[in-house]
Amino acid sequence: MRIAVPLALALIATPAMAASADPSTGEKIAKSECASCHAIGRAADAKSPDPKAPRFIDVAKMSSTTELSLKVFLRSSHRNMPNFILGREEIDSLASYILGLGGK
Ligand code: HEC
Repeated sequence: MRIAVPLALALIATPAMAASADPSTGEKIAKSECASCHAIGRAADAKSPDPKAPRFIDVAKMSSTTELSLKVFLRSSHRNMPNFILGREEIDSLASYILGLGGK
């Protein structure tokens, strides 16, 4: 018998997805799609081009940041962010890149 799970959670929780996460792909996407607002690198003195956008390294270090929280965030639209249309692998790769910045 199948257990009904909300679709979004089912997508996120599939363990096989981890295999498609590639931090170097995530870095490329971050450079092309996110760097206009966010500081995306490791540099401790970097400033985000948009002062309201948190630096990815700070996002990575927030205690509330987890692989799941990032994936959920990147799947949802955001008031202050353009509506990205990111594929599953792009989201996985971005999440693993950002988490890697914080050593998670
Ligand atoms: C047009 C500017 C802009 C772009 C481009 C942009 N962001 Fe953001 N982002 C923001 C702003 C502003 C915030 C802070 C919004 C808020 O929390 O109210 C934010 C917040 C975030 C957060 C913080 C979530 C949290 O838990 O607080 C994450 C993660 C994030 N962005 C990821 C990304 C990624 C990944 C990309 C590229 C795919 C991206 N952003 C592109 C402006 C942008």
